[in-house]
Amino acid sequence: MKQQVRLRRRKIQGPLSGLRVIVTGKGGVGKTTFTALLAGELKQRGLSVLAIDADPQEDLAYSLGFSPAEIVPVTMNRAYLEEKVGSGGIINLNPDLSDIVTRCGTRRADGIGLLVMGTVDSAGGGCLCPENTIIRSIARQVRVKDGEAILMDTPAGLEHFGRGLGRGFSHLIAVSEPTAQALRTACRTAELAGELGIQNRLLVINKIRNEEEFQRSREILGDTDLFAEVFRLPYDERLTRQKELTALTAGEESPLTEAIGGIATLLIKKERE
Ligand SMILES: Nc1ncnc2c1ncn2[C@@H]1O[C@H](COP(=O)(O)OP(=O)(O)O)[C@@H](O)[C@H]1O
Ligand SMILES: [Mg+2]
Repeated sequence: MKQQVRLRRRKIQGPLSGLRVIVTGKGGVGKTTFTALLAGELKQRGLSVLAIDADPQEDLAYSLGFSPAEIVPVTMNRAYLEEKVGSGGIINLNPDLSDIVTRCGTRRADGIGLLVMGTVDSAGGGCLCPENTIIRSIARQVRVKDGEAILMDTPAGLEHFGRGLGRGFSHLIAVSEPTAQALRTACRTAELAGELGIQNRLLVINKIRNEEEFQRSREILGDTDLFAEVFRLPYDERLTRQKELTALTAGEESPLTEAIGGIATLLIKKERE
């Protein structure tokens, strides 16, 4: 069994110019969990992974196995904000953030990198404060290198699209639970992503406990053309217990591994098209 997994993974390796993936969906559906699993899968396939946590709740660090104490969110890095955007009267609305990953990011020994954006006062959603200016610029300015994947975990809901967070990304993964409300939010994020020019949109219906739940979700979706493909992830008790998730699917053959592997394969294939 183990050998099969290794063979499958080796087959899809090869040159890749880079992958920019944004993960969206309603709160609690499993965005952060999925982002960490995908980060682990892409890492195992030989890609360098940079995860960006754009959710003010900052959960991604735990799921990737970072110690949150070692991480300073960008919006808390006053010296960086001041240098790039300025403070007081004059604000640079177009800061050069090409050094943001090296200056504000953290890297694990195995190479998975993390950039935590931090909190922006929601009362200032449209304001010109340095935090917002940085966040608006981040997604566009973080360059993806050859053989690298950038995975961005986002806050629940849709507001971040208003800030243009997904601009420049080529793949959207909308995560949902098998409920009408969560599926509606996933569809809405896919529509907005389409408006931002994100071409490859995938839906992941998470926490599926049985075939009936999946079929019901397909019925709710109808014959939408919002998504290039619909994936399912099983409900897996281990995900609720384990903190560090990046190695969970390594070297095992399970419905969860199959699903994450299938998504990674499709992302790589679409990126090469
Ligand atoms: N496939 C799954 N099976 C079981 N529990 C899951 C699964 N995916 C996520 N969870 C659990 O659901 C909860 C919410 O997941 P999380 O990734 O934090 O959601 P989000 O980032 O969308 O708010 C967590 O307790 C997580 O462990
Ligand atoms: Mg989350």
